[in-house]
Amino acid sequence: MRLSQFLLPVLKEDPSEAQIVSHRLMLRAGMIRQLSAGNYNWLPLGWKVLKNIGQVVREEMDKAGGLELLMPTLQPAELWKESGRYDAYGKEMLRMTDRHDRALLYGPTNEEVITDIVRNNVKSYKQLPLNLYHIQWKFRDEVRPRFGVMRGREFLMKDAYSFDVDAASARTSYVNMFNTYLKIFARLGLKTVPVRADTGPVGGDLSHEFHVLAETGESAVYYEEKWETLFAKESYTFADVEQLYAMADEMHVADKCKVPVKSARGIEVGHVFYLGTKYSEIMKANVMSKEGKEVPAEMGCYGIGVSRLVGAIIEASHDEKGIIWPESIAPFKTAIINLRVNDSKCNEACEALYQQLSIGKQDPLYDDRDASAGEKFATQDLIGTPWQIVVGPKGLEKGVIELKNRKTGEKQEIAADVVMQSISA
Ligand SMILES: Nc1ncnc2c1ncn2[C@@H]1O[C@H](COP(=O)(O)OP(=O)(O)O)[C@@H](O)[C@H]1O
Ligand SMILES: [Mg+2]
Repeated sequence: MRLSQFLLPVLKEDPSEAQIVSHRLMLRAGMIRQLSAGNYNWLPLGWKVLKNIGQVVREEMDKAGGLELLMPTLQPAELWKESGRYDAYGKEMLRMTDRHDRALLYGPTNEEVITDIVRNNVKSYKQLPLNLYHIQWKFRDEVRPRFGVMRGREFLMKDAYSFDVDAASARTSYVNMFNTYLKIFARLGLKTVPVRADTGPVGGDLSHEFHVLAETGESAVYYEEKWETLFAKESYTFADVEQLYAMADEMHVADKCKVPVKSARGIEVGHVFYLGTKYSEIMKANVMSKEGKEVPAEMGCYGIGVSRLVGAIIEASHDEKGIIWPESIAPFKTAIINLRVNDSKCNEACEALYQQLSIGKQDPLYDDRDASAGEKFATQDLIGTPWQIVVGPKGLEKGVIELKNRKTGEKQEIAADVVMQSISA
């Protein structure tokens, strides 16, 4: 992508409406613009990140045996009346009627719709287990939408639903999703603490929330100090976690807790629930068991706040200059900064780099604008490009260009052809 042809409305000043750093940086980097309260336009740079995060989530869900489908955002009210949640959900649900006076709602979650799909299409234990998921917009009419995409009204969620014939197999599905979540968050460069959580209106009796620790987090979490050893590990599992104390606010009872605990603020980026038969029973999603008995399917549901993750990752990874993207989700992995656009040698070198880098899967961002070096450096640091190749007349005279790592700030002078190898490594 040539920056001269891209829409990147960066802001030099901090916007006054933003209270937390991720919101400020998303606005300043030209990733989002507010359309109405809690409702955001995702500009090209932000949309790229959102898609990249969605892709990581999708790949790990698929590896774990998930099947992607797509359910509509608008749902018929009848299904929610059947489950008994239509009235219970209250004002957070956006309700509307169509031209035939049929009651509709903008889906805040999808248990009813997915249970309807399964009851109509799955009859036997032979078709189970199933894990069905989609990445779809949700609407919740939050009383206080705030912190940009962290607590929006319309937001993007990955929600998965598991169906099993019995409780033992449902627990296996739950643990499978739990471990998958740990992998997803690790790939996104995040350290998360899974805490035992209340199941609330969703129902069921086993639940964990995944929290990114950050001072700006809206939730309080409590965990045993030994957690620090898990953070240091490359990967850990449900089994590791089960041994340690980690609780969401509403589950933590200080007097009963026998181990010394730390308290911290957390951003909830994922939530998994074992639902049991709460929905399948009332909506009659029955399957034939091995023994030839009709039984309600055992369910689990698993959410990830895809759009909230954009903010959470920035909260966890930034400095005073801007965002520091993990390479796995950076909108552009590499930038080419042309320091002198009216110098033919600089142009030639940049074009060659741009062409060569574009051959592979990556889409480099070429700053071909007629702007000052300072402005170009500031822009790339603000939008967090992990690798920045700086091409200027002085370097070219020596046959070198500069390669800068956004995260470490480390700069190296290298021969042009070697640059390619170091980036693709
Ligand atoms: N208003 C919101 N804005 C952005 N993301 C949200 C919002 N509400 C929920 N999420 C994300 O979706 C995930 C699943 O939602 P869920 O646990 O059902 O919601 P809640 O925790 O608000 O009851 C949450 O872990 C969170 O990451
Ligand atoms: Mg939750």
